[in-house]
Amino acid sequence: MFTKETYIRRREQLRQKLGTGLVLIPGNQESPMNYPENTYHFRQDSTFLYFFGLQLPNMFGVIDIDENFDAIFADDIDIEDIIWMGPQPSVQDLAAGAGISMTAPRENLPGVVETAIKSGKRIHFTPPYRTDNQMWLSMLTGIKSGKIRQYASLELIRAIVSLRSVKEEAEIEEIEAACAIGYEMHVAAMKLAQPGVKEQEIAGFIEGIALSGGAGTSFPTILTQNGETLHNHNHSFLLEKGRLMIVDAGASSNGHYASDFTRTVPVGGKFSPKQKEIYDIVLAANNTAFSLTAPGVTYQSVHLAAARTIASGLKEIGLMKGDVDEAVAAGAHALFFPHGLGHMMGLDVHDMEDYGQIHVGYDEEIRPIDQFGTAYLRLGRRLQPGFVITNEPGIYFIPALLDKWEKEGLHRQFINYKKARTYLGFGGIRLEDDVLVTATGARLLGDRVPIKPEEVEAIVNGR
Ligand code: GLY
Ligand code: MN
Repeated sequence: MFTKETYIRRREQLRQKLGTGLVLIPGNQESPMNYPENTYHFRQDSTFLYFFGLQLPNMFGVIDIDENFDAIFADDIDIEDIIWMGPQPSVQDLAAGAGISMTAPRENLPGVVETAIKSGKRIHFTPPYRTDNQMWLSMLTGIKSGKIRQYASLELIRAIVSLRSVKEEAEIEEIEAACAIGYEMHVAAMKLAQPGVKEQEIAGFIEGIALSGGAGTSFPTILTQNGETLHNHNHSFLLEKGRLMIVDAGASSNGHYASDFTRTVPVGGKFSPKQKEIYDIVLAANNTAFSLTAPGVTYQSVHLAAARTIASGLKEIGLMKGDVDEAVAAGAHALFFPHGLGHMMGLDVHDMEDYGQIHVGYDEEIRPIDQFGTAYLRLGRRLQPGFVITNEPGIYFIPALLDKWEKEGLHRQFINYKKARTYLGFGGIRLEDDVLVTATGARLLGDRVPIKPEEVEAIVNGR
């Protein structure tokens, strides 16, 4: 947890931005796996963490802007809980750590909200993503639970996005702690990338590193030799010599900030010439993206520059043809690079995605591009100092997509389908770094996970 002054300041900044109303910030509850007492690993809601920092379930935060008070609604544990869980701090003591003096039992919450509604106060909340908080907000506001997300407050979303997008120094330290764990995870995975090793063994080993160094993984680990499937969570295969293993994995710091790195490793320790050609193009796209990441630049333009690097590299080896700028403008590169360059990262690995990507990644100036591939870009707007983003270009040979495009005759003037067919079975390559936008440019967060092909080969080979 940060200092209580941090949370007091953040709530004050929110007050200034919103001006009026009652803000409801539900914390998360425990979530049962197979029966009520056997729960998933608890993860607090990120908005609640940002404004209150408390990591316990069943808490509800309220910020009353007009009456100028903040309160935590939660119940103290009773003797039965103490027997099973041991003594716990009181809600009052916990709340004091977040700079809050007003606490009350959860049963008092409906009355407070009802009074606010009756007095005509605007009620603000962000769109709930868990059913129990959806039900709670519905019960408190009287809005049907199925409609509650439509009534989320755009003013609140915009205010919080403007605060959370710019990371404070203490947040950057947390992200760097997550990056340090992520570094260990990726180097460990490289060392284990040997023929005959089961993907699951490596995934489990690196998730153990995430748990022993911090709060676990920041998202379910992607680790596969079938990397043409972008988010492949199937870890059931034995690694085969000569295949490429994609590892897209990150850690959560103890303060719940994320890291998110991707590396692609030759199983057995040697890239084939064909693999290295593609690898070098993805690395060039990653380096291009980093060199262009700077305040004032639109991230959409960085994405498109990375797409041009990919298209021009693929043209050099005969997989694409024609004018590179025209190919990217037409979206032809998306056969090989069918996703966005990157996203914001912070408390969430895709930071603030629960608020709606349009509000986080875009604004009046920069709107999403509705074209296959680039439409998946989560962040397009102008970068500002303090933004933390990931850059994660990739090249993939996806059989179903290749079949579909070729059958439909898409972008024939830009794609050499005959040659592309010879890459089926190649898999995919993605290289992802975490980047802080600074006052003058950008810096990589954490030590750079080994990325040059010869560095990666040396680690797989135990050198
Ligand atoms: N690294 C997983 C993702 O960004 O979706
Ligand atoms: Mn990512």
